[in-house]
Amino acid sequence: MATDLTQTQLLAELEPVAAREVDRHLAVARDWDPHDYVPWDEGRNFAALGGTDWEPGQSRLNEVAKAAMITNLLTEDNLPSYHREIATHFARDGAWGTWVGRWTAEENRHSVVMRDYLVVTRGVDPVALEHDRMVHMTTGFGAPAGSGSGDGAGFLHSVAYVSFQELATRVSHRNTGRVCDDPVADRMLARVAADENLHMIFYRNLCAAALDLAPDQAMEAITRVVVNFRMPGTGMPNFRRHGVLMAKHGIYDLRQHLEEVLTPVVRKWNLLGRDDFGPRGEAAREELGGFLDELAAVRIPRFEEQRDRALARERRRATVAG
Ligand SMILES: [Fe+2]
Ligand SMILES: [Fe+2]
Repeated sequence: MATDLTQTQLLAELEPVAAREVDRHLAVARDWDPHDYVPWDEGRNFAALGGTDWEPGQSRLNEVAKAAMITNLLTEDNLPSYHREIATHFARDGAWGTWVGRWTAEENRHSVVMRDYLVVTRGVDPVALEHDRMVHMTTGFGAPAGSGSGDGAGFLHSVAYVSFQELATRVSHRNTGRVCDDPVADRMLARVAADENLHMIFYRNLCAAALDLAPDQAMEAITRVVVNFRMPGTGMPNFRRHGVLMAKHGIYDLRQHLEEVLTPVVRKWNLLGRDDFGPRGEAAREELGGFLDELAAVRIPRFEEQRDRALARERRRATVAG
């Protein structure tokens, strides 16, 4: 049986791919300035500078939009943790270092623009937002359980995880823009989502090259990531409550996770059709196939049934109250 490639070997072998992907990314990425996406003329001072502090009536956002905005912003805020994760598993030199720096700088724009928008438009309570940012960033982000062990597992797990996660944030930002009911927010989040899509393509192409290079190792990492996938919000205040609200109202639910995130990436990698796996890769592929089938046949219908019942109950209550 062939021995696994080490992290160092994987990074050395894949460096030309990283270099090619960095060049491709820089050729298609569009520079943009956060200040162009914020309606500054709506801004005014808070009490500390002689103005008025935030109160709920000032917000134009509905409860779903607020929950989604806060969750998405706190996720973006936690960038130092993701930087640490990626920087630990990628090399510092050459194309690896260039990518980590560039990606981090692009990601930072997302929290800048979203926070500016929310504070200027008084969309959410800035005191609660700052409190939650402190809690969330202090906790940080650790690799989810089941991320695998072995020398190359850290790199492969990271690359597979961000391939899905960047796409998941793209979907979430896009749908959040939709429910904000504000063309300015919609335009801002469409811009952020376009960045996330390019990030996804970088990692997805890198992971495709890792699959060609070390099919069994990569397939195992991908299966572990898919089976254990969580959005990176553990430790975020109200993460569960906000997540339920977002799932219930179509910002990010299980069907979107399967149909808009997992399926397109799995298809692009041709995981179910390729024939270069050994017994380990075959076993991992089988586990992945079983997981996806169960999602489609059992977990998604069950979730949607519960959701529809809950929404119907809420509508009935609203009618009675109205
Ligand atoms: Fe982002
Ligand atoms: Fe991103």
